[in-house]
Amino acid sequence: MSDGFATRAIHAGQEADPTTGSVIVPIHATSTYAQDGVGGLRGGYEYSRTGNPTRSALEKCLAALEGGRHARAFASGMAATDAVLRAVLRPGDHLVIPDDAYGGTFRLIDKVLSGWGVEYTPAPVSDVDAIRVAIRPTTKVVWVETPTNPLLNIADIAAIAQVARDAGVKLVVDNTFASPYLQQPLELGANVVVHSTTKYLGGHSDVVGGVVVTSDDELAEQVAFLQNGAGAVPGPFDAWLTLRGIKTLAVRMERHSANAERIAAALAGHPKVAKVMYPGLPEHPGHEVAAKQMRLFGGMVSFIHADGEAAALEVCSRTRLFTLAESLGGVESLIEHPGRMTHASTAGSMLQVPSDLVRLSVGIEEADDLVDDLLTALG
Ligand SMILES: Cc1ncc(COP(=O)(O)O)c(C=O)c1O
Repeated sequence: MSDGFATRAIHAGQEADPTTGSVIVPIHATSTYAQDGVGGLRGGYEYSRTGNPTRSALEKCLAALEGGRHARAFASGMAATDAVLRAVLRPGDHLVIPDDAYGGTFRLIDKVLSGWGVEYTPAPVSDVDAIRVAIRPTTKVVWVETPTNPLLNIADIAAIAQVARDAGVKLVVDNTFASPYLQQPLELGANVVVHSTTKYLGGHSDVVGGVVVTSDDELAEQVAFLQNGAGAVPGPFDAWLTLRGIKTLAVRMERHSANAERIAAALAGHPKVAKVMYPGLPEHPGHEVAAKQMRLFGGMVSFIHADGEAAALEVCSRTRLFTLAESLGGVESLIEHPGRMTHASTAGSMLQVPSDLVRLSVGIEEADDLVDDLLTALG
């Protein structure tokens, strides 16, 4: 019998150190490794851009959590995204992207990759037919987030994986919002999973990182080549912090999800709230798909303020416990205005977000305190 998720989070890739017995994986703060004669590597390591034991432990753990054969850790989620896209795409190739996605992902594709001759079509992730129609003979990748950032739309991973397979195209899922505890895209047929480990995996807003996980041996080799060749690697302390955060992922996600359900229920029907986006609400259009493919509905909630942009901005600066800040997935609750902050790069594009939108990253504080804070800020 294979170990359960919470057990893998604590033990996978993290055996006690064979020389000292250290229960916790050491921070291998070294750039290079002594060799016994030229090419005589003692532990398989030669240089820390190419490989580092703390990073290897993190990569083994992340592969085990996503059910993939290979994981490669990067210095940020964007570096991981960049590595996957550059491993697969060549000038003249095309990819399908969400019409609602993290602003940085859109910026990379729109401002960097398009300069290298890569073309893209935005499509709604919740519409499998729209994705099928957007695929061209030159398409190499379908990229989805689910739930999406910031509108919390849901993609049916298994159905889109079937469409991608039929077209001979790779499906990449950015699993940052769900975390591997809530959702396992590889098992549902995706070819690659990408994370900003800065978020739920790290979980404490103290480290930036990313990872690519896949069971595709050839693609994994190309990503590993770019990890070493382009060198956007995390340092050993960053890898260690992320590994430490992961140990509590399962319990944190339970609490994030429970608190977010409380918040979504408190916002639904509030006179200052025009619409709540949370896949756990039965009226959410992606609720059934989310219930099928996610263990719980996660810690992210977005809402439209009924009184427009100025009121949305005001709420963001009136909360006491929800800190006004970018990012998400940490133990502390955050609030932000995507249009002016995380998604400013989508202004004027097909991915532009509503100006009256507020995004919450619901932390693991007492739910009553969080509900009280938000309702007071809403007035
Ligand atoms: C869904 C999603 N993917 C990728 C990223 C990029 O990750 P990073 O900030 O670690 O580069 C983010 C960052 O907010 C994100 O929300």
